[in-house]
Amino acid sequence: MSNDLKPPTSRAQFATKIGAIATTVGSAVGLGNIWRFPYEAGAHGGGAFMLCYLFFIFSIGIPVICAEFILGRGTRSNIFGAYRKLSPNGKWYLAGYIGIVASIMILSFYSVVAGWTVEYFVQSAIGALDLPSQQHYHTHFDEFSTGNWRPMIWTLIFLAMNFVILMRGVTKGIEKASNVLMPMLFILLLIFCINSLTLDKASEGVYFLLHPDFSKIDSTVLLGALGQAFFSLSLGLGCMMTYASYFNDKTRLGRSATMTAILDTIVAVLSGIIIFPAVFTFGVSPTAGPTLVFEVLPSIFHKLPGGVIWSTLFFLLLFMASLSSTISMSEISIAFFTEEKKMSRRKATILNTVIAMVLGSLCALSFGCLGDFKIFGMTFFSLFDYVSSNILLPTGGLIVSIFAGWVIDKKLLRDQMTNNGSFRFKALWLITFCLRYVAPTGITLVFLDSIGLI
Ligand code: TRP
Repeated sequence: MSNDLKPPTSRAQFATKIGAIATTVGSAVGLGNIWRFPYEAGAHGGGAFMLCYLFFIFSIGIPVICAEFILGRGTRSNIFGAYRKLSPNGKWYLAGYIGIVASIMILSFYSVVAGWTVEYFVQSAIGALDLPSQQHYHTHFDEFSTGNWRPMIWTLIFLAMNFVILMRGVTKGIEKASNVLMPMLFILLLIFCINSLTLDKASEGVYFLLHPDFSKIDSTVLLGALGQAFFSLSLGLGCMMTYASYFNDKTRLGRSATMTAILDTIVAVLSGIIIFPAVFTFGVSPTAGPTLVFEVLPSIFHKLPGGVIWSTLFFLLLFMASLSSTISMSEISIAFFTEEKKMSRRKATILNTVIAMVLGSLCALSFGCLGDFKIFGMTFFSLFDYVSSNILLPTGGLIVSIFAGWVIDKKLLRDQMTNNGSFRFKALWLITFCLRYVAPTGITLVFLDSIGLI
């Protein structure tokens, strides 16, 4: 089988080994770590959520990244092509549609938050974020986010920037930018982390985040943590698969998967350690939801010497990190339109951007004039976030783990994990075991639990 799977030479490949890791990390690290992780952890009891999250990252996340890598590099195709090549008569390729729908939903609400980042970058740079108290920061963000026009315009501008970068192709822009920006963001987070640990109620914040109260672990916490693990690792919709299809033959899949997961988790934990001491010190409720981080961060910067410079740089880097993530999710539908539907890259990119602009506007207005428009009790923004992260991504992950664990030729799995036998990969049995048993049962149990069946 593997002979049919030689790469077509026309597909671009990442130039360097570091480039491959930096790009997957670039996709994984983004608003998911810095914005979504703290607010989800805050809403779900802190330590209890954190514990479940870490458990899912290691027991399900890493094996599923490996599965996506195996299918992506093994077939050198997008999600549809990968399933079709490996199971020509099966219906597995339908999972690709979950990927397309989820990626467009995520792109839509993600761009709203990325738009907030751009607004705060600008405000920070012109000195408008220098306010006297936490209450002022709260009101300030509230006025901005409920104000309809500005959030919507920033969403559209962000998507336009995403469009421009996508038009420049796969390897160049993204790879170069990620190599420089991710390390910078990391250093900045370390500095903020040290600063947060000196705040008055630092120990209360750290305790909240790191001390698991087992009685708080219920179905919502489990589902939330599973969804967050998938969201943060860019898993479940073929994103890592598409990226792996550009890996060269020397990239070690197991190592790249582990590195990506570890770096991604470190960034999430760091941002938790930055946010929660501040949440307690400045008297904000940890359950504030999607706006939490944007209300708290400015207060942290305000206390730092040279705060304006730090906050401007931070929002700029966060914006860049968001961009490297939205690029990766856009690649899913672009690869589909170009490779499956034979559209030109330009047309495919325009189509992706236009759909996201329409849906993104609805999400942006969810905090303003569409705030009362609810479906299943949720605004467009929360609905897109909930359905994609907690339902579609884990479903995609369930499918890919069963497919890699049970359906494909074991030889393909082994060949991909060992680069055709060029080195020994001791954890092969563990990855296979997790793909066959742990991931499918884990995800199914969390689903059944959340709909009340167990
Ligand atoms: N993981 C990214 C973040 O944490 C978001 C992201 C990029 C994503 N590509 C994805 C999420 C694909 C799910 C699927 O910000």
